[in-house]
Amino acid sequence: MDDTTQATTAFLRQRGFDRAYSAAIILGTGLGSLADELTDAVSLSYADIPHFPLSRVSGHAGRLIAGTLAGSQVLLFQGRSHYYETGDAGAMRIPVALVAALGIPVLVLTNAAGSVHPDIRPGSLVAIRDHLNLSGTNPLLGDQTERRFVPLTDAYEPRLRELMQAAARRSGLVLPQGVYAWMSGPSFETPAEIRMVRILGGDLVGMSTVPEVILARYHGLRVAAVSVVTNLAAGIEGTVPSHQETKDVAMEAADRFKRLLRAFMLELQDE
Ligand code: HPA
Repeated sequence: MDDTTQATTAFLRQRGFDRAYSAAIILGTGLGSLADELTDAVSLSYADIPHFPLSRVSGHAGRLIAGTLAGSQVLLFQGRSHYYETGDAGAMRIPVALVAALGIPVLVLTNAAGSVHPDIRPGSLVAIRDHLNLSGTNPLLGDQTERRFVPLTDAYEPRLRELMQAAARRSGLVLPQGVYAWMSGPSFETPAEIRMVRILGGDLVGMSTVPEVILARYHGLRVAAVSVVTNLAAGIEGTVPSHQETKDVAMEAADRFKRLLRAFMLELQDE
């Protein structure tokens, strides 16, 4: 563990974050209200945690919260830092390293995404089964260790995807699976880019998550990921995406999203 991660881990342990976690969850745009479901919670603003990257995007509160969800201890990241904020694809290096350093076995990544398919409508939840990295960059660029050659076959762990499906059944939700295409942002895509994504086998498009998956697999974490579809992607049925719509629709879908994650924690407990 590097010195920065060690110092930040020690800092958090002294402030009530020293728990036997079952999972960490990174919450995407408009999905921060999962934090309201926690009991026995402690929380800190990212700005008060040494070396922690800030989220400067509206719809991301920027708080780290530990608490109990459906009987399990979880660590919630209420907001993330994106590649497009700084130009650093490894913007989430420290948060993901912290998850590993705290001994948390499972990382659940969540995001708001555009749908490339007219039949996967805004408001849908989709489990990510694989990704396309179309950003041209990688969070492990510059890493000098042999560990950088991370295999990404089954990065979205099949067993956790089964548990996510079981969680959806338990909560009466449908949960299609899809391939998430990471675009750098912050501009939205062109209709031609969306046609390209579709030809390449993408189902969802977004500006986050993939670098975190790569970092998480680098640390040997088990990964699950869920998108909340907030819009049809650019050009589909004439769509012009906007950040305001992303936030609004994610908040409307938040109740279903919370049900799914609560049920997922129960499935994980029974594993
Ligand atoms: N494109 C990229 N990122 C997104 C979108 C989109 O259409 N919707 C929400 N995040």
